Amino acid sequence: MTVYTTEFPNPLLEVNVWRKMKDIDLVAEQVLTRPESFRIPNLPGRDVPLRKEGERDGGRKGLSQKDGRARLLHDLVGIELQAFELGLRTLIEYPEAPKFFREELLKITLEEAKHLKLCLEALKRMGYEFGHWNTHLHLWQSVATKEPLLDRIVIVHRYLEGAGLDASEMLLNRLTGVDDPVLKQVLKVIAEEEVDHVRFGSQWFQKLVKESGADPDEDFKVRMDRIKHQVPARHIPLAKETRKKAGFSDGELETAEAVRVYFLTEPPLPRR
Ligand SMILES: [Fe+2]
Ligand SMILES: [Fe+2]
Repeated sequence: MTVYTTEFPNPLLEVNVWRKMKDIDLVAEQVLTRPESFRIPNLPGRDVPLRKEGERDGGRKGLSQKDGRARLLHDLVGIELQAFELGLRTLIEYPEAPKFFREELLKITLEEAKHLKLCLEALKRMGYEFGHWNTHLHLWQSVATKEPLLDRIVIVHRYLEGAGLDASEMLLNRLTGVDDPVLKQVLKVIAEEEVDHVRFGSQWFQKLVKESGADPDEDFKVRMDRIKHQVPARHIPLAKETRKKAGFSDGELETAEAVRVYFLTEPPLPRR
């Protein structure tokens, strides 16, 4: 007898990073059409050690050393994995979001899975596996269930991914003169494609705010002022030209800079 089930593999519950990527290939269509079939756990599945609260993230070697570059790739695996899981989470949590928004977000989510694979494979080529160092869930923990869609867009696609643009630019500069073409290529692909992810956030944010009759620059300022208390601190100088390409207005850049200055002067929240 054939037993039909509505249960699909769920990459958020799966603990192994390689199997998570296989799962998304199997269920991408269902995430779009049947989001109610997927459960969202409090924390996404992991079979690798997590950094304990308050534990120091020290002992890094410089990027001229192989161990230091592997650590950077390991960090990127953790980040791309959470970006992938956050994309899925938004698709599951906001079935009422505009259809085109959801379709674009699925493409971005699949691109995050591709970034994840690139980083994992490069890490493996260096002789390391995910889990060699401990890892964190700070990106996943920056969002909240039932927050307004505009908050989610700002946190994930404008704040976190925006900071990713700043970080990529800084890292590529720091790698000038380092002989590691594979790592540089991975970073370049990610840096280029992430501009589109941030632009997705900028365009949808500005469109939805305008449709509500409010001013996007003003809304962004007020919203960021509230959101800065729930996101990880970011201090890296803004990649202003890249952010402009990704849809940041001059007013929004001023707000992003003010938040950066706030984090430079305020002590970070304990768990960040
Ligand atoms: Fe990515
Ligand atoms: Fe992204």
